[in-house]
Amino acid sequence: MAADTPGRVAEDGSPYPDRSRPSFEKEVRAMFTHIAGRYEWFDHLASVGQDYLWRPRALWALDRFRSPGPIRRILDLGCGTGEFQRLAARHYGSAVVVGGDFTAAMLRRARALGERTRQRDRLAHLRANALALPFADASFDLVLNAFVLRNLSDIDRAFREMRRVLRPGGVLVTLEIGEPVRPLMGTLFHAYFDHVVPWMGRSVKSAGPYRYLPESLRTLPPRAELLDRMRTAGFGRTAADPQSMGIVTTFLAEAGAEAPPGGHPRR
Ligand SMILES: C[S@@+](CC[C@H](N)C(=O)[O-])C[C@H]1O[C@@H](n2cnc3c(N)ncnc32)[C@H](O)[C@@H]1O
Repeated sequence: MAADTPGRVAEDGSPYPDRSRPSFEKEVRAMFTHIAGRYEWFDHLASVGQDYLWRPRALWALDRFRSPGPIRRILDLGCGTGEFQRLAARHYGSAVVVGGDFTAAMLRRARALGERTRQRDRLAHLRANALALPFADASFDLVLNAFVLRNLSDIDRAFREMRRVLRPGGVLVTLEIGEPVRPLMGTLFHAYFDHVVPWMGRSVKSAGPYRYLPESLRTLPPRAELLDRMRTAGFGRTAADPQSMGIVTTFLAEAGAEAPPGGHPRR
């Protein structure tokens, strides 16, 4: 793997993305290519099964937040292996749910798992970079993204892109790990992510990805700032709904009537 991996690698040869390098995006893609095969079970293990609750709760928060109306087109951006995508397709029984991701190995897995479901005719998969989305303006009623934000090289540009592809009144749902609400929980949280998760990663020859994970968490702005930046990108009403004592937060943002200039031009 080391020979094919752009940028920094850990001692076991696994990709270890470094945000300060120009090749950061490629390094992130190499990392997700490396972990694609074991992504889901490792995720369930590292979150002690909590991730089974986080995504459904995000959709329930969305239903409390959004204005009534049909949901026909959904984009799950950074869909990975498609867990959130398939859940959204079950939750919104007549919607088409497009899974977009820039890592081919993750998308392949999402496609294969999607094929096994009753919702398969309403699932689509597409290579897409969050910073330059290959969709026309106002194409979607909802844009979802779970655990993607901390991997982006330019969060503001991604917010503008997500706003651009939403119809006015459409909603962005961002689910992300963050600093717990209570300080004691924060100490445990950092001990777990700084020591236990990297140890688990080393045991499956993925020292780099699971050392990168706690580093990436530290690069995320606080909740209030993220909401401000969503509003700057053209969202109106926003809300943050912490889960599991704030270890994970559901961010909700309604697309305003007009997108601000500066989204990536449609190609
Ligand atoms: C931690 S995984 C989350 C997967 C999935 N959303 C879930 O809930 O399990 C992050 C995903 O985001 C994708 N990703 C990261 N940066 C991206 C970008 N700039 N554009 C598109 N996808 C990106 C990765 O390829 C990876 O599949």
